[in-house]
Amino acid sequence: MPRRVLVLNGPNLNLLGTREPEIYGTATLADVEALCAERAAEHGLEVTCLQSNHEGALIDALHEARAAGDVLGVVLNAAAYTHTSVALLDAVKACGLPVVEVHLSNPHAREAFRHTSYLSPVAETVIAGAGIHGYGWAVEHLARRG
Ligand code: DQA
Repeated sequence: MPRRVLVLNGPNLNLLGTREPEIYGTATLADVEALCAERAAEHGLEVTCLQSNHEGALIDALHEARAAGDVLGVVLNAAAYTHTSVALLDAVKACGLPVVEVHLSNPHAREAFRHTSYLSPVAETVIAGAGIHGYGWAVEHLARRG
């Protein structure tokens, strides 16, 4: 059975393409997920993609990835929960999988409240400010890391 990469997107990322395109670009969530699937396939991997506007659903997905046994790692753009969620921080730690924190924009170049990430201290890797390419690199990293 091929191993999988879990691609998790948080609140408002379902609106990608039309949401503040000057910040987040014009690519859609479907484009992001297709890019991840393409990168993964190049390494003989599959992706499971989930977007949710609900914190608990993202946490549940991390728990399921932990239990599944075939998940190589997680690409996580927790969106605004990045800056608020101790619960997601705990879930990232608990899942025991390598997590790549991805942001389309560079939060450090934006409002002060975006400069704090609850997830960066527990993410293995952080990629920010590269638009959707960051997702492709995150999958690539997990694939090469093995
Ligand atoms: C984001 C950055 C966050 O600050 C913001 O709340 C988002 C998207 C990004 O991908 O640049 O929703 O995670």
